[in-house]
Amino acid sequence: MIPHDRHLVLVGLMGVGKSTVGRVLGERLGRRVVDSDAVIEARTGRTVREIFEADGEDAFRILETEALLDALAEHEPTVIAAAGGVVLRPRNREALRDSGARVVWLAADPSVLVERVRSGGHRPALDDDPAGTLRRMHETREALYREVADLIVSVDGRSVGEVVEAILR
Ligand code: S3P
Repeated sequence: MIPHDRHLVLVGLMGVGKSTVGRVLGERLGRRVVDSDAVIEARTGRTVREIFEADGEDAFRILETEALLDALAEHEPTVIAAAGGVVLRPRNREALRDSGARVVWLAADPSVLVERVRSGGHRPALDDDPAGTLRRMHETREALYREVADLIVSVDGRSVGEVVEAILR
């Protein structure tokens, strides 16, 4: 059960379906959906790719923390589709824990994700060697997703509807 007064946060690697699952969950729960990448792009008037390329990853991560902390501070409970790297900074993991939000890790076999993700767009990290990058990201982040998660839902072989049901159950 998702407490009605808590944010619901989706975390997981690029391509697990955080945005799509988030949108459906938002409809089902009658909540607004906050997508951290979209917040950053709206605030800066630049794309995630432009920020990565012009200012570097560290600058992007600072904006990401601001977007996450602001979303968690909102009074109205929302569904937050947090970008894949949100678990990297200890500050973010602390904020997730302290906020009392319910955090769901959408977990996937990284080799399956390669088929689902497209580079280009807002994922400059996947421009070269997407399979290797996803595998390395999985290795470095797995323990961090586990650390913040209240619930782990495997998306492998499941439709969006099935993932949503697993979260709501
Ligand atoms: C990133 C994930 C992307 C985007 C950026 C970096 C990451 O968001 O923030 O390309 O480091 O995992 P999605 O997880 O929404 O694709």
